[in-house]
Amino acid sequence: YIVEYKDDATAFNGVKKAQILGKGAINNAITSRIFPMLECEGVPTHFVGQLSEIEQLVKAVHMIPVEIIVRNLAAGSFAKRLGLKEGTPLKIPVLEHCYKSDVLGDPLISRDAPVALGWCSEDDLETIRLLALRVNSVLLHFFLERGVRLVDFKLEFGKLAGGQVILADEISPDTCRFWDAVTGEKLDKDRFRRDLGGVEEAYADMLERVSR
Ligand code: TMP
Ligand code: ASP
Repeated sequence: YIVEYKDDATAFNGVKKAQILGKGAINNAITSRIFPMLECEGVPTHFVGQLSEIEQLVKAVHMIPVEIIVRNLAAGSFAKRLGLKEGTPLKIPVLEHCYKSDVLGDPLISRDAPVALGWCSEDDLETIRLLALRVNSVLLHFFLERGVRLVDFKLEFGKLAGGQVILADEISPDTCRFWDAVTGEKLDKDRFRRDLGGVEEAYADMLERVSR
């Protein structure tokens, strides 16, 4: 398949819509840098190669309709749900599972639901969870070296025709929370979601850091 990265941005389940100039090219470049690195670290991915500024060639997979969220610090919906101050440290990474359904607003589901509903096997789910934690440890280190705290992020997985589970989708400021390690400044899509301004600048800053 060819993935095309767009400048379109949405938030709050599509209620808020806008364009972030240059976002498509930046997210393509960032994902094209990160996925090969993850491959080298033992995480199989759908990435084949970057085709152009906004296009990527990927392996065809059957997507498993689960979004895996990995959290290192309390933020976003987790902080809100539990009444925690954003930035509260977590003693271990927290894995959450959401049902990938725009109609339902990607609701939180239990760990057992994907197997109970026949979306994947118990073994597949265990593989997904282990890969998500592996991605977290690689990326925590990678971003910290570039002055960025990886607060949380979202991953999606798919199955190859042969049955192997691999990482798909993207890893970018759209799908991660990045805080400057010194100042705490937000360098991700929260600048758009929360009307903080400096959206394009934050995406460009993240591309520059990832390219180091
Ligand atoms: P949350 O705190 O809003 O649940 O978001 C957790 C992480 O998931 C955060 O890094 C942003 C990312 N995310 C997506 O990639 N897509 C989404 O639709 C949402 C809501 C969050
Ligand atoms: N899934 C959200 C939406 O479609 C996007 C986000 O908050 O990242 O509005």
